[in-house]
Amino acid sequence: MTELEQDLLSTLTQVQATLSTVSNADELEEVRARFLGRKGLLPALLGKLGQVPAADKPAVGKTLNSVKQQIQQAFEEKTASLQKTSACSHALDVTLPGRKRHLGHKHPITQVMDDAVAIFRRMGFIVADGPDLETVWNNFDALNAPQDHPSRTPEDTFYFNLKDENWLNPETMILRTQTSPVQIRSMLAKKPPVRIICPGRCYRRDTPDATHGMSFHQIEGLYVDRHVSLADLKGVLAHYAREMFGENVTVRLRPHYFPFTEPSVECDASCIICKGQGCRICKGSGWLELAGAGMVNPEVFKNVGYDPETTTGYAFGMGLERIAMIRYAISDLRLLYDNDLRFLQQF
Ligand code: DAH
Repeated sequence: MTELEQDLLSTLTQVQATLSTVSNADELEEVRARFLGRKGLLPALLGKLGQVPAADKPAVGKTLNSVKQQIQQAFEEKTASLQKTSACSHALDVTLPGRKRHLGHKHPITQVMDDAVAIFRRMGFIVADGPDLETVWNNFDALNAPQDHPSRTPEDTFYFNLKDENWLNPETMILRTQTSPVQIRSMLAKKPPVRIICPGRCYRRDTPDATHGMSFHQIEGLYVDRHVSLADLKGVLAHYAREMFGENVTVRLRPHYFPFTEPSVECDASCIICKGQGCRICKGSGWLELAGAGMVNPEVFKNVGYDPETTTGYAFGMGLERIAMIRYAISDLRLLYDNDLRFLQQF
């Protein structure tokens, strides 16, 4: 046997041994390059064929063909077996449990807001919108707030570009302290009848505690037409309270003062926790404050160009955080805005 034949046979053994250790496609490629590639072992041996004496050539040629064939076969077998195992590892295991998708849900304040909006829409109110960034005129002057009203001071209200006494300037911009300026926007945009609600965010420079935040939500209501009465207002608020809290809830009106309504009232709902008996939540009174309200002040009608002689209307405004706190028994308002999923996922 010539030296070349011995080399060929030992190459075959090497290939077979190496392939038996190969476990993936990358390794297979590497082995293929090492033995069969352009600078590989087998082509190098083939190059030596020319130096073989003529007499030995038939025998060497035969060995060469047989070795080549076996090497090729070894690679084919390895490729097939790798494909088989990788197909198995990608197969679908139908016994595995399904992957759980975590669906989000509405924030408790949004839930209360959506419910309130739905109740008033069923009574014919249309949702109106206004910006959080308001003018002093829309938020205070047009609503008949006197210039020396304490809520107008920079200690209570967030002003933009505050300098000198410009917080009394009607064009100065503020973060709205109430949703009531949307009343003004709605009346300026349209002649009566107007029947709107406006849910939205408000801002006040309060120190945050269990029942106060620097930002909170209100829903505002306004109905302006001819011959609107306080009885209409009471009926709407009573219906709202029953829809929101339950069939047996009653409401009462107490005299109050707001610059934009005359007369003004505060509307209470019987406490849903103790059913009016008196408890910690209602501070023993049996009543929960529901809304501020009243008959729109003629001064406000004048400010938006309505005839105060023939136009009548009522307005109301209420906080949504308190309703959410009562409904879901939340003891601290700050929990609503901490964005702690352990808390929010409970609703
Ligand atoms: N804007 C009042 C507040 O923030 C709430 C309110 C009271 C709104 C009476 C009204 C109303 O529309 O008529 O305290």
